[in-house]
Formats: sequence, C-alpha cells, structure tokens
Amino acid sequence: MWGNPFGDLHDAIAIDLGTANILAYRQGRGVVLNEPSVVAIADEEGTHKILAVGQEAKRMVGRTPGNIRAIRPMQEGVIADFQVAALLIEYVIRKVRNGRHLRGPYIAISIPSGSTPVERKAIREAAEAAGARKVFLIDEPMAAAIGAGLPVTEPCGSMVVDIGGGTTETAVLSLGGTVFSQSIRIAGDAIDTAITAYLRREHRLLIGDETAERIKLTVGAAHLPDDDEGAAMVIRGRDIAEGVPHEVLIGEAEIAIAIAEQVTAVVDLVRSSLEVIPPELAADIMDRGLVLTGGGGLLRGLDRVLAYSSHLPVVVSDTALEDVARGAGRALGDLSLYRFAFEDA
Ligand SMILES: Nc1ncnc2c1ncn2[C@@H]1O[C@H](COP(=O)(O)OP(=O)(O)OP(=O)(O)O)[C@@H](O)[C@H]1O
Ligand SMILES: [Mg+2]
Repeated sequence: MWGNPFGDLHDAIAIDLGTANILAYRQGRGVVLNEPSVVAIADEEGTHKILAVGQEAKRMVGRTPGNIRAIRPMQEGVIADFQVAALLIEYVIRKVRNGRHLRGPYIAISIPSGSTPVERKAIREAAEAAGARKVFLIDEPMAAAIGAGLPVTEPCGSMVVDIGGGTTETAVLSLGGTVFSQSIRIAGDAIDTAITAYLRREHRLLIGDETAERIKLTVGAAHLPDDDEGAAMVIRGRDIAEGVPHEVLIGEAEIAIAIAEQVTAVVDLVRSSLEVIPPELAADIMDRGLVLTGGGGLLRGLDRVLAYSSHLPVVVSDTALEDVARGAGRALGDLSLYRFAFEDA
C-alpha cells in the first residue's frame, strides 16, 4: 500500500525506456543518463554476451559482423525483446547508482498510454529482473505533461502531443487524470524509413538508418521551404543498380515531400483528438493550446503546421527530449501531489 513507500526516495530512479532513447532522472540531480536504447550482443554457443550499450552500441548498428547483433529492445513503444530490455534497465541502474547497495532501488518507469495489461506486466517484470526493489508505472503522456510543466492537477484541460521514435501520443489531462489519450505507431522512426524509401525510389540510392536520421535532422522539415530553395546536403550511399558508392544532392523540399505522409498522419491524429475533447475542456484547450514534446516534436516547422491545421496555439517544450523522464521523476519526488499518476504496484 501507499503509506510512505519512499523512505528511501534518494535512491529512487525514474526511467523513460523509449524506442529511441533511454533516460534516467534522479531526485535533486535531474537527468543523469541519456543514451540510445540499443544493446549490442554477441551470440556465442547459445549464450549472449553484451558488447556495448547505448551510444557505443548505436554506432554498431548496420556495421555489425555476423555474430554481433545490435538490438533495440523497444519497438513502436512496446517491449520487443524482454531480456534485452531488462539488460538495458540493469545497465542504467548500475551506471547511475554509485557505491554498494544492499537492496535494489525504487524505479518509476513510463509506459505508453495504450499499453495492454500484458505489455505493462512485461515492463514491470523487466525492471524487476533488472534489480528494482519496487516498480511504479506511470502513463507516458501524464509524465510528459508534468515534465513539460503543464498544470495537470488543476481543474482545467491541458493537451500534450508526444512524438517519439516509435509512437505519437496525444492526451488531454485535467485534475490529475487522463481524460483521454490516443496514439499511433508513426513517429521519428517512420519518418526515417520514409526518407530511406524515397531515396531508394527516386535516386536509386541505398542508405542506412543512421544516415536517414541525419538527413532528417539536417534538412528535414514538416512543410516546404518558404523560399523555393531551402537547405541542401550531399548524401552518400550505394547505387542500387551498380552496387557502387554514390552521392546525391538532396534539398529540403524533396525531404518535405518524402515525409509528407507521416506528417499528415500526426496532423490527423491531433485533429481527431480535438474532435473528442469534452466541450468543457475544449474551451481550455482553445485558450491554452497544446504542447509539443518528444524528439519528433522538434521537427522543423511541425509546430507551424499543427497550429495552422488545428487553429490552436502550439508551443514546443524547451525540454522535449527529457520531458517524460523529468515528469516521472518529479511525480515520484512529490507523491502527495502526484500519487494519482502511478498505477499502484
Ligand atoms: N531536432 C529534431 N528534429 C526532428 N526529429 C528529431 C530531432 N531530435 C530528435 N529527433 C527524433 O526524435 C526521436 C526520438 O525522440 P524521443 O527520444 O522522444 O523518442 P523515444 O521516447 O525514445 O520514443 P517513444 O516515445 O516512441 O518510445 C528520433 O526519431 C529522433 O530522430
Ligand atoms: Mg518517448
């Protein structure tokens, strides 16, 4: 039961186990770890050996020889590889706690709002397998909204749109509860995939995931450039037909077209969410607008496109990549105010 489970609060860790990135937040210290959610594993005679985790493992993706696999244990927001997810959480616990400990830490961990009971259980068990003494689950949009500084406990509606690597989630929160939430499995990764497909189709160029992401970060935008030109960059890949290294010059406009379908899916999700907001809260949202968070929310011009299509003020969170971890951590640190946010263990 609740009582005061956090006598040992200083040893609590809030974790955002995302599809793209894993973050850890500690009371009084802030975000203490932020790395890609990737584990590189070597398969040897039926056993797994961890070669690298996080940043180092991400560099191996697409460059790994035969017996080395780089695994992202979360796919589209849910656990795809339970064992590897547990390894990743264990790595985080080890890295952010110093000294010896007799007992495992309290862990708050975020879960996508649409998670099934089976998925929730899988995340809880992965954290337990990683050594957590007790696991508290918090809905991701609630954590994101708290992290972005929205007044979720007040009797007025707050709307958050969290675009991560695997999922885009919209939610309206009021009086400490999630009034509703919706999600689609289209986010940053799907945009990268669209860029890869476009280059293959239009330029006969094969590129890897890392290159696709770099293109998005460099010349990606949600709408066509205001002048006809926009930014441009040289991309190296392999020519499909000839099989040889090849370079092409790609402009901002082309990439905007390549990812238009994914941008439209996000816009449609926001619009359909607005349609189901109860009227009392709709007025609040019209007034206060929505907050865009998650790494995908940083896509250039997306705030503008959403503001235009929804007729609402749109603000991009200053801490978009950290909001879920910050919010989960803040909730854990102020249980008298935020106890509602956790699903009791
Ligand atoms: N400036 C940027 N512009 C566009 N996309 C960005 C930017 N910065 C990061 N991203 C993208 O944001 C995504 C990662 O965001 P985030 O860390 O919020 O995801 P996640 O929480 O791991 O995923 P999920 O919430 O879906 O499980 C990646 O697809 C990354 O390419
Ligand atoms: Mg996320």
